[in-house]
Amino acid sequence: MGLKKKKKLYEGKAKILYSTDNSYTVIQHFKDEATAFNAKKKETIEGKGVLNNFLSEFFMLRLNSINIPTHFIKRLNMREQLVEKCEIIPLEVVVRNIASGSLSKRLGIEEGTRLPRPLVEFYYKDDSLNDPLVTESQISTFEWASESELGEIFEIALRTNDFLCGLLLAVELTLVDFKIEIGRSHRSEGEKLVIADEISPDTCRLWDSNTKRRLDKDVFRLNKGSIAVAYTEVANRFDLLPKNVKRVIE
Ligand code: TMP
Repeated sequence: MGLKKKKKLYEGKAKILYSTDNSYTVIQHFKDEATAFNAKKKETIEGKGVLNNFLSEFFMLRLNSINIPTHFIKRLNMREQLVEKCEIIPLEVVVRNIASGSLSKRLGIEEGTRLPRPLVEFYYKDDSLNDPLVTESQISTFEWASESELGEIFEIALRTNDFLCGLLLAVELTLVDFKIEIGRSHRSEGEKLVIADEISPDTCRLWDSNTKRRLDKDVFRLNKGSIAVAYTEVANRFDLLPKNVKRVIE
């Protein structure tokens, strides 16, 4: 069934992956650690793992429901979910609607400027190089993804952006930008690209649509308050948390 946790396969900054009793699934455990600036800033934030587990479940299930494939199978408990094992393409795929973060810094575009159309960018996943911005041509030359995969990644990224923008706007949240990771899953019907990793306020910029208050990891990056409070607010706008979780975090 793939529900029995076996051995630790990988520990990252925010998550741990464990093998299960079958070779097609892994258990993804969400930690309470928050890091920024390639782990130069680091803190343990009680409840963050639980919040991201619920929030990522919600976004992935909604994407699955409109046939955008993700690795998500089911949530197992407060901190863990069963996901499809896949081979991660070593790219951070970023989609931006509004200028912020590294785009504003790199190109001098004032934060908050709406872009004429969604911008897709790729960063090479390598902490020792600080995840540098890379071109499509570099992606092809170094064979991080094939040309046809790259086309599919663009399509997944832009469809995900459209869908998440609407879903979030309905609860008065503006999707400024987000990052996804794509995996190659080896299903019986053949290899397929799926959204992997997580989608949560750790990997998105979410602003309250009216006040522009930040409700994402920038609260931690910029020392603007508690991310447990900010992420709880996002989860509560979708009514995602069981009663006992609301009490633990508040
Ligand atoms: P950036 O403006 O710092 O390049 O970030 C763009 C988006 O990607 C933003 O929503 C935050 C997200 N992100 C991650 O999920 N992980 C990272 O390591 C970084 C740098 C950004």
